[in-house]
Amino acid sequence: MPKPEPALMKDITALCKRRGIIYPSSEIYGGFANTWDYGPYGVLLKNNVKKIWWEDMVMKRTDIVGLDSAILMNPKIWEASGHLTQFTDPLIECKKCHARFRIEQSLDKCPTCQAIELTEAKQFNLMFKTYVGPEESGTNTVYLRPETAQGIFANFKNVLDSTRVKLPFGIAQIGKAFRNEITPGNFTFRTLEFEQFELEYFIYPKDADTEFKTWRQARLDWYVGLGINKHKLRLQDHEQAKLAHYAKAVSDIEYKFPFGWSELEGIANRGDYDLSQHQKFSGQDLQYFNEDTKEKILPYVIEPSGGVDRATLAFLVDAYSKEKVNKSSPPAGGGAGGGGSEVRTVLKLHPKLAPIKVAILPLVKKDPELVKMAKGIYEELKQNFFVEYDEDGTVGKRYRRQDEIGTPFCITIDSDSLTDKTVTIRHRDSMQQERINSAELGDWLKDKLNS
Ligand code: GAP
Repeated sequence: MPKPEPALMKDITALCKRRGIIYPSSEIYGGFANTWDYGPYGVLLKNNVKKIWWEDMVMKRTDIVGLDSAILMNPKIWEASGHLTQFTDPLIECKKCHARFRIEQSLDKCPTCQAIELTEAKQFNLMFKTYVGPEESGTNTVYLRPETAQGIFANFKNVLDSTRVKLPFGIAQIGKAFRNEITPGNFTFRTLEFEQFELEYFIYPKDADTEFKTWRQARLDWYVGLGINKHKLRLQDHEQAKLAHYAKAVSDIEYKFPFGWSELEGIANRGDYDLSQHQKFSGQDLQYFNEDTKEKILPYVIEPSGGVDRATLAFLVDAYSKEKVNKSSPPAGGGAGGGGSEVRTVLKLHPKLAPIKVAILPLVKKDPELVKMAKGIYEELKQNFFVEYDEDGTVGKRYRRQDEIGTPFCITIDSDSLTDKTVTIRHRDSMQQERINSAELGDWLKDKLNS
């Protein structure tokens, strides 16, 4: 029977902690709400998400360049972008305990202390503030960026002037963003500090509708291509009346998390809102010169903007599975071993996303020759892949450990390996085994990870 959904989220959170994927932050001091730390396997997973996005957006395309802009910027940027006045949530505050609540349903008493005195709704800005220099005064106030996008718009002219980009072209950026979220939660879904992968794709205004549709589909396909169940993904168009202040059209890619359908990524047609605002506030000419028509225009922009942490969470949730297997490992060369008495937890991550690509497991650790061969294979593969070596415990237990962190392939080395130089590869999902020559392992893996 499938687990009730909140319990499922709890199981995934517990697995992440137990297996070094994601830890609650500052835990030895009692924690710090809604911040999380990626452990040794989590950082590999998240880095893979970013690497794949970067390769797909920047490396494999001729029309997109990268950028890494600063987190702290001139505060005028946030005035121009509208964040200073518009990036707000309506909040009410308890006059007694000063807890603040986002107005999602009407409240007649404080949910924290039950007091009945609540303030009227006030607009609360979500940007974190800090000060540059020793004085904490208004003129020194700066903001931690709530999105990476504005760093891209602020560098639009630099990129135009220093590279050979021609419309249509994109500028891609991955980086931290910060929001003083009032109702964070659901593990890493909504946090105070998170990473975004954002693309600003500059186009001729006449192409806006076509490009918007193209990017909506391309971004949806990206998640499916990395293994997410397509039935758990959907596109939701924002109603015209509820659009963000900068947008002409927005469509969200939503994933069916255990806590309900929720946004993974937004694709927006921002028109020329940002460039025209920055042109106005900076006094700089941000127009693009069309060499064919000899005209200057302000390009429109289509923005696919996703959260690295949310994508990582969706990959984890979608990959998480529990299944019954036979206690004994299936015989070499056959049998998935399903339907047995033991339950295994397995992260069926796409091999490209998996933190560890392969585990090397000598069947017996008391045989020095066997261990030597296993360590030789480990040292060699390690030059190109994230590999783990494990000789502790029964091979069944070692498989389970690797299943729980999503390692797609385990290689066992046995006494036959010493004579015929072959090894057994065990596939994580099917639990099928195959025997291959150890000299071919590197090419075999490369092939599997590229398909
Ligand atoms: N530049 C447009 C922009 O920032 P957004 O919809 O506010 O748009 C884009 O954010 C993405 O950033 C979201 O789809 C989500 O994946 C991620 N994101 C936003 N707020 C977040 C939070 N508090 N915690 C984790 N991820 C968040």
